[in-house]
Amino acid sequence: MRVKEDQKFKNIFWILDGKKQLATKNLVPGHRVYDEVVRQVKGVEYRIWNPYRSKLAAALYKGMGVFPFKKGSKVLYLGIASGTTASHVSDIIENDGVIFGVEIAHRVMRDLLSVASVRKNIIPILESARRPQSYSWIVPEVDVVYEDVAQPDQAKILIKNSDIYLKKGGYSLIAVKSSSIDVTLPPKKVYRMVEKEITSTRRYKLIETIDLAPYDPKHAMIIFKKLR
Ligand SMILES: C[S@@+](CC[C@H](N)C(=O)[O-])C[C@H]1O[C@@H](n2cnc3c(N)ncnc32)[C@H](O)[C@@H]1O
Repeated sequence: MRVKEDQKFKNIFWILDGKKQLATKNLVPGHRVYDEVVRQVKGVEYRIWNPYRSKLAAALYKGMGVFPFKKGSKVLYLGIASGTTASHVSDIIENDGVIFGVEIAHRVMRDLLSVASVRKNIIPILESARRPQSYSWIVPEVDVVYEDVAQPDQAKILIKNSDIYLKKGGYSLIAVKSSSIDVTLPPKKVYRMVEKEITSTRRYKLIETIDLAPYDPKHAMIIFKKLR
């Protein structure tokens, strides 16, 4: 078994053992977050990052060209749920970075609290992402806003939060579930609507739209850069 760091993105690894699997280096060796597979290579523990469980992993498998999460990044994560994807982001940003994780549902927040008790770079916030002012006492300016809330007004939620918290030149990523926005329209049409809604503010430039099929059919990851 061999490990190779991604050619473009630091702290993203590929485990090669006949097949090629995406992985992150476990920030808390010995601790698993969900039922992820763990691999030891030369004394280092890696967590396999499953594209069927995480839309961000699916976007990496689909060749995303910009990956703004780095060692030390400050991230506002809207719809963090129990921390499946966030735990891999936590590995990538290491302890120099921080994730402010907003989640509305009490039940998943309980699981997130146990993840955050060992991963000190995750700060759980039990709130609605529709009320970004309510967490202004704790969230500073961030490098990345990541949203995965599967709500009909998800573009508006992203704009509201990015307007307040994202630094100029920072990136907003939105995982779009087309059926949450309009179940009657073809997914591609829904993605164009979301792109238009966000770029028409003139504060965000579209960087790329990645269709997540076959990992997550009818979902896309859309990436924007904040212009001002
Ligand atoms: C698809 S799941 C997120 C999965 C997670 N991002 C992952 O990859 O591990 C969507 C989450 O968004 C949360 N959510 C929905 N509306 C929200 C809101 N207004 N504010 C915050 N969280 C919300 C849901 O409770 C749910 O946990």
